[in-house]
Amino acid sequence: MKYNIIKDTNPRLRKVSEPVSLPLSKEDEETIEFMLSYIKRSTDEEYAAKHNIRAGVGLAAPQLGILKRMFIIYIPNLDGKDVVYQLVNPEILEESDKLIAIKDGEGCLSVDKPHPGLAHRHYSIKMKAYDFYSKQDVEIDASGYEAIVLQHEFDHLNGVLFYDRIDPNNPDKQRPNEVLI
Ligand code: NI
Repeated sequence: MKYNIIKDTNPRLRKVSEPVSLPLSKEDEETIEFMLSYIKRSTDEEYAAKHNIRAGVGLAAPQLGILKRMFIIYIPNLDGKDVVYQLVNPEILEESDKLIAIKDGEGCLSVDKPHPGLAHRHYSIKMKAYDFYSKQDVEIDASGYEAIVLQHEFDHLNGVLFYDRIDPNNPDKQRPNEVLI
């Protein structure tokens, strides 16, 4: 396989990625298509078991060792609809003061070791980007789980991993104005 998912032992994952020129080059198109197809396949239990891969809901280009500001998310059947984006040069325009965290903690295809604790996120965000999936500029108002996934993938573009957002001294302490899901 041409692409490989790198792990957090690789310092590339800690770098800040570069903006991508639009329209996408053939190579960048191929990368962003691969990322979505990989994550779609990872949610197929039979395929995932056979190829020993974990299911994911998102993937960022730096996780392939490609330091470009692109990521995809694929959340099937979230409140009855599939949430699919292939975002290029995303920017966060707004973020709520209200916070959110996943009780059982977050996971990441680049992180093998467990890192228990609450990864604190904004409850809702507004993000703008070029979306290769719908072939247009988008402004996304996301909240709850979708907002968490967007922030997790966005962090990868800046070399940030979910466990950086866990307070090492109080990993399980809920913050004021924070909901747990
Ligand atoms: Ni991740």
